[in-house]
Parts: sequence; C-alpha cells; structure tokens
Amino acid sequence: MAKGKDTVFFCNNCGHESSKWMGQCPGCKEWNTFVEEKKINVGNKSSLLSGKIVSRPMQINDISVEAEDRISTNIGELDRVLGGGLMAGSLTLVGGDPGIGKSTLLLQVCRNLSLANQKVLYISGEESLKQIKLRADRIGSFDENMLLLCDTSLANIAENIKETKPAIVVIDSIQTMYDEEISSAPGSVSQVRQATSVFLELAKGMGISIFIVGHVTKEGTVAGPRVLEHMVDTVLYFEGDRHASYRVLRGVKNRFGSTNEIGVFRMDNDGLKEVTNPSEYMLSGKPEDAAGSVVVCSLEGTRPMLVEIQALVSTSGFGIPRRQAIGTDLNKVNLLIAVLEKRLGLQMTNCDAYVNIAGGLKISEPGIDMGIALSIISSFKNKVIPDDIVCVGEIGLSGEVRAVSMINERVNEALKLGFKCCIVPKVCESQIKIKKDIKLIFVSNISDIMSLDF
Ligand code: TYD
Ligand code: MG
Repeated sequence: MAKGKDTVFFCNNCGHESSKWMGQCPGCKEWNTFVEEKKINVGNKSSLLSGKIVSRPMQINDISVEAEDRISTNIGELDRVLGGGLMAGSLTLVGGDPGIGKSTLLLQVCRNLSLANQKVLYISGEESLKQIKLRADRIGSFDENMLLLCDTSLANIAENIKETKPAIVVIDSIQTMYDEEISSAPGSVSQVRQATSVFLELAKGMGISIFIVGHVTKEGTVAGPRVLEHMVDTVLYFEGDRHASYRVLRGVKNRFGSTNEIGVFRMDNDGLKEVTNPSEYMLSGKPEDAAGSVVVCSLEGTRPMLVEIQALVSTSGFGIPRRQAIGTDLNKVNLLIAVLEKRLGLQMTNCDAYVNIAGGLKISEPGIDMGIALSIISSFKNKVIPDDIVCVGEIGLSGEVRAVSMINERVNEALKLGFKCCIVPKVCESQIKIKKDIKLIFVSNISDIMSLDF
C-alpha cells in the first residue's frame, strides 16, 4: 500500500532521513533501524534570504573568556569531569541505566548550586512533585532558589524557563518531553530531536546551563538518534553495577575539557558521596594469598588508580575452551593468551580462562596488559603473587613490554598505598624519578617474569 506523503523514515541509530523504509541504513550501515514518523513542517526557506541580520562576526581577540563563566557544582568529582566546573550556557547530556542515580546526582547538583545563590529549575517528566520531594529530603535541606516543575509539554516548559529565567535547568528525562505539533510518541526520534533543539536554543540564547537526562538502550548508548550526542556540548555516562554501591561518571564528549577524566561516587542512604581515594576503595575486597589476583596501576585521565585483576584458568570440559572477560576487552585477553602460549610455552589449549576487573570497573587502557598476563600465569601455575606487588606495562605481540604513559604518577600511587614493589617496563627506567621506598623490577620482555622469584 502506498504511504501518505506526510511521513518519513528515520534511522534510530544515526538519525538518517529517508522517504522510504530500508532494511539497512545507508548512513551508519546498521540493520533494521528505520522507524516511520510524521514529517516536521519546516518554515518557508525563502525567508532565510530576506531576514534581518541578527548576529554579526566578531574578531577573535575581542572575545573574552572569564573564569566566572564556570560555575563550581561543589562536587569535586563532577567538576573535574566537566573540565573544571559547569560552563554557563552549556548543554550537558547525562546518560545511564535506570536506577543508577542520575536523578539523585542532578538533584544534589541543584541543591549545591541553589545554596550558592543560583536560581535552579528542576523539570521532571517522570516523577511527581511528592516523589522528588521525598528524594530531596534524603539529600538535605533546600532553599527558595530551588524550583520544581512536573511537566512534559515542551511549549509549556519553554515558556516557564523564559519566565523564571533560571541559571541552571535540569530536564529529567529527554525521552518524556513532547511537542504537540509532532504527532509521534514521546521518546521517538523526531520528538527527542525537537526537544533537544529547543533546549539548545534556550541554553545558547539565554546563557542557561542545561542538564539533560537520557535513558540508555541495551547497547549502552543514549536512546534516540546519535544526533542527540552531536547536538549537546558535553556527554557524560553514569556507569557501574547497580547492585554495588560505587558509580563512575565518565566523560564521552566534552567541548570544554578532556574526555579522559572520570568521577567516582558511592551511593549512600543520603545520596551520592564522592570517593576521593578510589584506589583504596577498589582494593578493599581483595583476597589475600589468592592465586590469579594481581594489582595493576591503571590511569584514568590524569588520575592513577589501583585495581585488582582476577583470572581463573581451569581445565576445559569441552573441545573448544571458553574465554571470558568482564570489565575489559575479550580480544585483548585472547591476544595475551596467544602471546603467553607462543612466547612462554604456556599450554592453555585445554584451559578455560576467565578474566575479571574486580569492582565492576571497565578499563581498556593498554597499561593493564601486564596485570592480565600475570594474573593468567598466576592462576595457571596456581602460584600466589605477593600482595605488596603492583605491575604496569603494555605487552606487544612478540612479548615485549612496552612503555606506558605517566609512569611516575602510577608508581607514586602504589607507594602512597603502601606497596613495596612495582614491576615496570624497562624502557621507562630513565623516566622514573622515584627511587626510594619502593623496589622497582624492570622487565623488557614477558619472559623476564618467569625468572622472577616472588
Ligand atoms: P535514581 O537517582 O532515581 O536513578 P535514575 O534517575 O538514574 O533512574 O536512583 C536512585 C537509586 O538509588 C534508587 O534505587 C534508590 C537509591 N538511592 C539511595 O540508595 N540513596 C539515596 O539517598 C537516594 C536518593 C537513592
Ligand atoms: Mg531518574
């Protein structure tokens, strides 16, 4: 049956627009992502040429950036991820699984900013005023700068924002917002796009910092088109195991700072608390004298963090051995096992191997290669690696141990937490300034490990 002219198809993944349905998106090559939606009427294009000039070009040297443009949220971990505080007029997307603590974090941000004499408007399309108040009571006391609004109508919300002129606005969540003029359901591609562009205009036009909460799909990206991520200034993901109490806030995109930084939080009875010493926290449950457990010093952004890597190597019951990695890349684990087999002669063809980054953290940094290899060797040989050893290093295909970045910061972190010995790449020897209080073992090839007697 012929389709009406007033509908178009959007790719759910990248936002590609097409007049007919297609199995594969030509934009992002994903399958089965097209959904049908009502066409949005775009105003008369010719007006673009006849309109009055509103904005004019400026000389770059005339533009001043003042330190006051950044507002501190009074949550150090969040400020760091944002690049040193919240920028005025910025649009920030906060994504994460349901129940991870997005609303709680933003309510705490609202509280801190309202106590610092900023006018804050928290708009919820998900919860009632009472529900928000109940959560707010757990967090602490608020003052008159904090305004709440429960609404999902875009027109109404925009009107309210223009009228109250807040400095900070929180939209919880973008998937519940809808424009009456678009007939598709809230959360659909065109609704999400429309809502984001309205908030973008308000943020840039009025200099309001807007936080947008976005739900994530099973694949872990913010539901709705990728264009949403392109439109905003900053994308933060809140991740972690919902059953464990700690949470990691990670910057994925940031127009005002680095995207490597992470913030670590702990969910308590009275809201999220900052974890300023994550290493201590990550190592708190480490078993003593257990084979297959190794501590590595990983680097997230500018902050070194000690984490425990666990490996379990057991005899395989099937023809094809099982290999699994939790918290790190399975391909990396497979590659390291192949290196160990080839370079060290470890017979792992009949062994299942499981690697886990304890604490539920996700690390993809190459500096943990040595830790993964060492934990696999330790479990395979059933030999305990002493508790006071930390290791760091990237491993290449010929078994060579390659340099890692910021070696001094890593060794220093190990020293700070009372470790006595650190296994480091030989190529980093000249860079290391710390010589006292910690024993350094330099290795140039993974085979050097075998000759060490722990
Ligand atoms: P919430 O912030 O509602 O998550 P999201 O908005 O990401 O869906 O998450 C709240 C969860 O955290 C919920 O399971 C209750 C719990 N919680 C605490 O443990 N302590 C607290 O102080 C608060 C406010 C919530
Ligand atoms: Mg919520």
